[in-house]
Amino acid sequence: MTKPTPNEIGQGYDAFADLLDQLWGENLHHGYWDDPSGGTTLEEATTKLTDKLAGMLSLRAGDQLLDIGCGNGEPAIRMATANDIMVTGISISEKQVERANDRAFKAELDDKVVFEYADAMDLPFPDESFDVVWALESLHHMPDRWHVIRQAARVLRPGGRLAIGDFLLVPGPAGPEADAARVREVGKGVVAVVSLDEYLDHLREAGLEPAATEDVSRYTRPSWAKAAERFEALREQALQHIEAAQFDVTLGRFRAFSEEPSLGYGLLTARKPG
Ligand SMILES: C[S@@+](CC[C@H](N)C(=O)[O-])C[C@H]1O[C@@H](n2cnc3c(N)ncnc32)[C@H](O)[C@@H]1O
Repeated sequence: MTKPTPNEIGQGYDAFADLLDQLWGENLHHGYWDDPSGGTTLEEATTKLTDKLAGMLSLRAGDQLLDIGCGNGEPAIRMATANDIMVTGISISEKQVERANDRAFKAELDDKVVFEYADAMDLPFPDESFDVVWALESLHHMPDRWHVIRQAARVLRPGGRLAIGDFLLVPGPAGPEADAARVREVGKGVVAVVSLDEYLDHLREAGLEPAATEDVSRYTRPSWAKAAERFEALREQALQHIEAAQFDVTLGRFRAFSEEPSLGYGLLTARKPG
């Protein structure tokens, strides 16, 4: 299966915006489930993942942050509120940009937080214009994530930081090649993964110095099962948008993802020298 183009991805997010709200909540990313009592809600767990990645960055008041693939703007607004930073968010979904700007306005943050429609493959910003670039669960969508990382390095000021949260290919039971082939098969072009080592090599090639890395797979893994559970409960609503066969394929995919040992999740930061 070929990977969808940025336009197709944007159209998909636009078409399923309401359904995605009900599926994932305000944050369109996985949760971080570290409470052994199991009492954490999906909304709490997704917020925890934002805080976990932001905590690896040490944001400073006045920092200018570019959020690549900003979703509905929730992570950006949370970081701007907690750290007094300025944010520009971009998304390939027009509906998300509209919703995110609306959310910033309601939070009275529209003087500090703005969202624009743009393709991360062609970042419309001058060189060295941000202190921080943030990409939480967006790089797996990109036709060429290494190109986006080079773009991120270009727009970072010397001394600037990059933060990434992304699906990762993690060591599994069958050895690297067989694990990768299995994940490719289960991912069907929707979730494309690379290993932590590939990330580190490409960060260095882009002129960045890797800083903190954390394989958080064991804490994010319950997200797929939660998504399957919620999606199943949304069957009637989903069938107003998609055919029953497509619904079953998607539900099956969430379940397959939840059982795939090599489909992991990583958090990474890097720094631009200077
Ligand atoms: C899984 S959502 C994550 C959203 C947000 N980062 C969050 O954590 O809530 C993926 C995001 O990547 C964006 N995206 C995907 N491809 C893109 C591209 N080529 N350029 C800009 N944004 C893109 C989508 O529009 C969406 O906002």
